[in-house]
Amino acid sequence: MSARKPIRKAVFPVAGLGTRFLPATKAIPKELLPIVDRPLIQYAVDEAREAGIDQIIFVTGRGKTAIVEHFDIAYELENTMVERGKSLAVLDATRAVPGDIITVRQQVPLGLGHAIWCARAIVGDEPFAIMLPDELMVGTPGCMAQMVEAYNQVGGNLISVLEVPIEQVPSYGVIDPGAVLEGFGGALTEVKGLVEKPPLDQAPSNKIISGRYILQPEVMRTLENQEKGAGGEIQLTDAMARMIGTQPFHAVTFAGRRFDCGSKVGFVEATLALALEREDIGADVRRIAERLLRG
Ligand code: G1P
Repeated sequence: MSARKPIRKAVFPVAGLGTRFLPATKAIPKELLPIVDRPLIQYAVDEAREAGIDQIIFVTGRGKTAIVEHFDIAYELENTMVERGKSLAVLDATRAVPGDIITVRQQVPLGLGHAIWCARAIVGDEPFAIMLPDELMVGTPGCMAQMVEAYNQVGGNLISVLEVPIEQVPSYGVIDPGAVLEGFGGALTEVKGLVEKPPLDQAPSNKIISGRYILQPEVMRTLENQEKGAGGEIQLTDAMARMIGTQPFHAVTFAGRRFDCGSKVGFVEATLALALEREDIGADVRRIAERLLRG
């Protein structure tokens, strides 16, 4: 039996302009907006590391260098904190091992598919993960760890999915689900088709792609000649759809909670939900929230 190649690399497309969060994102990458006291990107990187992934590939762009700074060692800050007797534990997850963070630039915003293709030389000939940091996935184990576990069982290509109210479907990539695989508690479904941002009356289901993928390296060759799709952009979903039939594709239904932090309402929801759960501030936040709601 040949062993499956482990998933060691994750591509994080972080070149987006973040126009939905202007003016907050004029000078600050949207990926650094905090949910309580951790930037969005940190949640996604921690989730990848929990899944055993140690090579973080940022597909970045102009004005986004602060993301890389976030994962560097900040000598002045650390020295000052040490002098003042403060613990550095709060910075632990931000101190990358040298060489573990790699960046490539997406010079023009041609779409998610194009962003992923920009990382082709670094991904090489290995299966790899993709994580969209806008989607905040909260679970134990985390979403990517659940996907890696499924990958170890079935291999091939995996997409995380979740069900949303049908009227939300036109904002996402949507799967056409096939048979449910036996033995995974209903969590693994065959994918028969994929469509990016379908009109409501053409949606094959209400199961949307929720921003986590494990893909075989062949997707890079498919992206190479991918034509523009929804929104005039080169879509990852379209490239994956073309691979169905030549490669196994399965959907993993994430057991956990998901917040769409690409929208303002989702961002506020995530902030409130995670603040309420915090040991240090949860009780205070609850009191304040209840007071505000009483009006
Ligand atoms: C992207 C993907 C889409 C997916 C979504 C998840 O869309 O293209 O398939 O459902 O992320 O958030 P975007 O949000 O970049 O328009």
